Amino acid sequence: MTELVHVSDDGPIRTIRMNRPDKKNALTLPMYVAMAEAIETADSVHCILIVGSSGVFSAGNDLQDFRNAARAGDGLAGPILRFLYALARSERPIVAAVEGLAVGVGTTMLLHCDYVVASSDARFSTPFVQLSLVPEAASSLLMPRLMGHRRAFSLLVMGRAMDAQAALAAGLVNAVVAAPEVLPEAIKAARDIAALAPEAVAASRQLMRGGAPAEIISRIDEEAALFKTRLQSPEARAAFEAFLQRKR
Ligand code: COA
Repeated sequence: MTELVHVSDDGPIRTIRMNRPDKKNALTLPMYVAMAEAIETADSVHCILIVGSSGVFSAGNDLQDFRNAARAGDGLAGPILRFLYALARSERPIVAAVEGLAVGVGTTMLLHCDYVVASSDARFSTPFVQLSLVPEAASSLLMPRLMGHRRAFSLLVMGRAMDAQAALAAGLVNAVVAAPEVLPEAIKAARDIAALAPEAVAASRQLMRGGAPAEIISRIDEEAALFKTRLQSPEARAAFEAFLQRKR
């Protein structure tokens, strides 16, 4: 079976590649485990780089998994929380290279990144409320803090997508480049970071992140409790079925 998440180290940079292109890199539980593990064990490198594949960053959580969790009466599964905690606790800076779609956690994971490069055709959306869910990954805390309440409300609650230029203006991404330039540009940023003294980077990053990770983890947990309730709701279950049964 093809590896759904490919992790490789090139000197001081660890690259985590989501590799499920036939499903637009929708994240399954084993993929979350692999990504969490790669972040948790990144002490040996200076910088982490998260990338998608085949012109897509990620279509978010696998909706089949959400349907299964709803049927089983579960909330956000352990592997999902493990990944979110790993992002929040990472002591290494994280760079992301976003080509094409970034949906749901595909967008909210970027709020934990330190430097994001996007393609000019990138599109960011968080259709949690459309699915009758609530935001996750501490996005209810980090997104309004980053871009202000109104822009965050449009994205997080109204479910309106943001294009690359709007994401740049909102501070969600650092740079917008043509698709073929996304990975080289992100690698360049990762190399620039990796060339700095790692302990100075870690200390500076920690100062900039204020109360993190405790505050972020507490919000992840608060959101997860609500998420579990919403996951069981008839509206959310109907939304998962509608997607999974859709005729195209
Ligand atoms: N979970 C499970 N499967 C997904 C998925 C997801 N989140 N997103 C895409 N897929 C699957 C599709 O079911 C399809 O599988 P199939 O070929 O076996 O039918 C395949 O990936 C390709 O997706 P498709 O919808 O044909 O591509 P598209 O380019 O027309 O649309 C999206 C891409 C991302 C806009 C659309 O797939 C979508 O809306 N996905 C759901 C996104 C979502 O709600 N994520 C959760 C947020 S909390």
